[in-house]
Amino acid sequence: MENIITNQLQLRPVTPQAHISFELGQARELLNNSDSNLDPALKEQLLSHLNRAYSISAQMDAYLSSVTQAPSDCLRSLERATMSLPWQNSAELDGDLEPEMLSGHLEGQFLQQLVRMTKATSVLEIGLFTGYSALAMAEALPANGTLVACELDDTIADFAESYLHRCVAGQKVDIRRGKASDSLEQLRVEGKSFDLVFVDADKSGYRTYVESLISQPNSLLAEHGLIVVDNTLYQGEIYTKPLEEMSENAQAIYHFNEYVRTHPDLKVVLLPIRDGVMFISRKQEDSL
Ligand SMILES: C[S@@+](CC[C@H](N)C(=O)[O-])C[C@H]1O[C@@H](n2cnc3c(N)ncnc32)[C@H](O)[C@@H]1O
Repeated sequence: MENIITNQLQLRPVTPQAHISFELGQARELLNNSDSNLDPALKEQLLSHLNRAYSISAQMDAYLSSVTQAPSDCLRSLERATMSLPWQNSAELDGDLEPEMLSGHLEGQFLQQLVRMTKATSVLEIGLFTGYSALAMAEALPANGTLVACELDDTIADFAESYLHRCVAGQKVDIRRGKASDSLEQLRVEGKSFDLVFVDADKSGYRTYVESLISQPNSLLAEHGLIVVDNTLYQGEIYTKPLEEMSENAQAIYHFNEYVRTHPDLKVVLLPIRDGVMFISRKQEDSL
């Protein structure tokens, strides 16, 4: 398996791409070590195909990273600091949190481009974790821009807060603690509206978040706002397994994707970036 090793931390595969690399690597190893009566010419051909498929898949992430704009020093050290947290032996870090949650270089730069392309000045993030994607987006905001980030877990919010304060762009981030659903209600009371929303928290909450964002009057999503939703491929589970065999999270994503796909007022596109990034916007009156 092509494990990512960061500060001795082995990250498990969490994207369809990483799973494909893992499966191809396993198949290649099995075939290499097999002493079956397979015709040697056929074995060689099979290995050649597997090697090619494995290389294309396993080397893709590194290539994407090498071509993509490098992260700022602040982003780089935040990623390093996140990986250095005592994930295996801490009573304070909630067992549901894991270093694999960090979106990382490619997605961070992708989100930055989105902030620039949409000319967003107000961004909402649902699911802050240690602050990587929030900081990436905040870096692309204009000086008067703001980013509100919701986080349930106090320990990780403390970490993100102390880290973000050290970075210039991090000072644009306003952290709202507690359940995101409560924070959304509070933001509505405050009359806030957002040009760009990044949804990356508990999968079972996705539908409620989108419903809350688009609900009128005083919608939290600006009229031409864009909602970006992470993990909408859920590691490939949602299109390869029967519903009843999917994990709870995959089932939630399956139902969420069906909800937005069939929503009469929404336009949706699902892109195979990392674990699946979905764009959702309102249908404009003059559009099909
Ligand atoms: C996948 S991580 C977010 C990763 C982050 N966006 C990044 O790119 O680094 C999901 C985060 O959502 C938080 N979360 C889970 N359920 C939540 C809820 N109901 N309200 C607010 N935050 C929640 C978790 O504590 C976790 O920190």
